Amino acid sequence: MNGTVELIFDGKPLVLPTVVGTEGEVGIDIATLRAKTGCITLDPGYGNTGACESAITFIDGEKGILQYRGYDIAELAQKSTFVETAYLLIYGELPTSAQLAEFSGLLTDNEMLHEGMRHHFEGFPPTAHPMAILSSMINAASSYHPGLINAREERFPYHAARLISQVRTIAAFSYRKAHGLPSIYPKTTLKYTANFLHMMFSYPGEDCELKPEIVRALDLIFLLHADHEQNCSTSTVRMVASSRANLFASASAGVCALWGPLHGGANQAVLEMLEEIHKEGDDGTKFLTAVKDKTGNRRLMGFGHRVYKNFDPRAVIIKEQCDKVLAQLHVSDPLLDIAKKLEEIALHDEYFVSRKLYPNVDFYSGIIMRAIGIPMDMFTVLFAIGRMPGWIANFKEVMDDPDSRISRPRQIYTGATLRNYKPLAERA
Ligand SMILES: CC(C)(COP(=O)(O)OP(=O)(O)OC[C@H]1O[C@@H](n2cnc3c(N)ncnc32)[C@H](O)[C@@H]1OP(=O)(O)O)[C@@H](O)C(=O)NCCC(=O)NCCS
Repeated sequence: MNGTVELIFDGKPLVLPTVVGTEGEVGIDIATLRAKTGCITLDPGYGNTGACESAITFIDGEKGILQYRGYDIAELAQKSTFVETAYLLIYGELPTSAQLAEFSGLLTDNEMLHEGMRHHFEGFPPTAHPMAILSSMINAASSYHPGLINAREERFPYHAARLISQVRTIAAFSYRKAHGLPSIYPKTTLKYTANFLHMMFSYPGEDCELKPEIVRALDLIFLLHADHEQNCSTSTVRMVASSRANLFASASAGVCALWGPLHGGANQAVLEMLEEIHKEGDDGTKFLTAVKDKTGNRRLMGFGHRVYKNFDPRAVIIKEQCDKVLAQLHVSDPLLDIAKKLEEIALHDEYFVSRKLYPNVDFYSGIIMRAIGIPMDMFTVLFAIGRMPGWIANFKEVMDDPDSRISRPRQIYTGATLRNYKPLAERA
């Protein structure tokens, strides 16, 4: 039930409305605070700020709960697929068989890039990071659909499907380009994740083997990444959408936000860290001592989370999958031994335990991706493919909200106060 809260401000009572979510979370609505008191709230990093009301994903970081549209992530991971989960996130309900068939059909119909777009790939240098290519190409795709404006359009389902389908094609093409390999076109007979692996690893005239356990593991990685509430990239998508930018532009901004090592780039950073430890002949012990000393400003990548302070429920699921994939593929990898050692020490070490730092999803997803042959610089790209339905669902929610306003935070100014301009000759 929504209500009010009475606070004491400057010795006087201040009544503000409260908003209560369906899972009991209470937010104090401070929209009138400035008008009533002349003050604003200050919360760098937004650790304590609700930027919106949303009906898509629920997280309880203390209890390690993650639900998409009310469905527990563990149940979805066990029973659903990435494509079905994408539909659930965007449209709010699990699809009927007819709806799923229609959605899958739209994904297949839209999997090819406009042939003109293929020329854009030629302009990137071989050293281009695939995330740079991905964000540019998603934005470029909007120029092929100039009518695309907002989610209230009748053709929204078509554009949403196109984006989910083409992000996978763009990702695979950028990998092929970076490695000087011929582009492989999608196959209409293959399902979403199998088709991605086909475009990544087949050769003209020689299709790669699609092992069901590998397809399932990757599909699970996509599903587990499909949404995660108001994280950095999703907030970015919502912010860009709030200015009424189109779906492709908003998603492209999301890719840029995801790229950083403290966010989606963490899965790549985990592997880089493991490689570095291995190169130095360390088993992880020396590295952890340096992390705890804080001398080299090092972090144990793949550990810690802004919201999960108990455990990351996705990490539990993916760890199990990771063990399965490694056993099925008979992988023996010194980096995996280091990862296991780091995990074992950190889970019992006072530094990590007292700060509630547990392995997050990136700690294990990087290991699985390495085992199935995905190159390191593609890890974050795969995260972006997985996150696309969540970004689209959030874009749609912003656009569907008749009360949505442009996002425009305030600040506390701490710079110089008014001063006179000094001519160049008088400056020291
Ligand atoms: C995810 C992350 C950015 C969350 O950051 P945050 O909520 O802002 O946490 P803080 O930066 O305030 O850290 C709190 C404390 O834990 C420490 N800490 C946090 N993550 C750490 C890590 N991975 N390794 C070592 N120390 C860590 C900080 O140094 C700080 O210590 P202090 O209290 O002595 O100053 C952070 O945990 C991190 O950088 N993790 C590694 C990157 C990663 O895996 N990201 C993927 C997230 S899905």
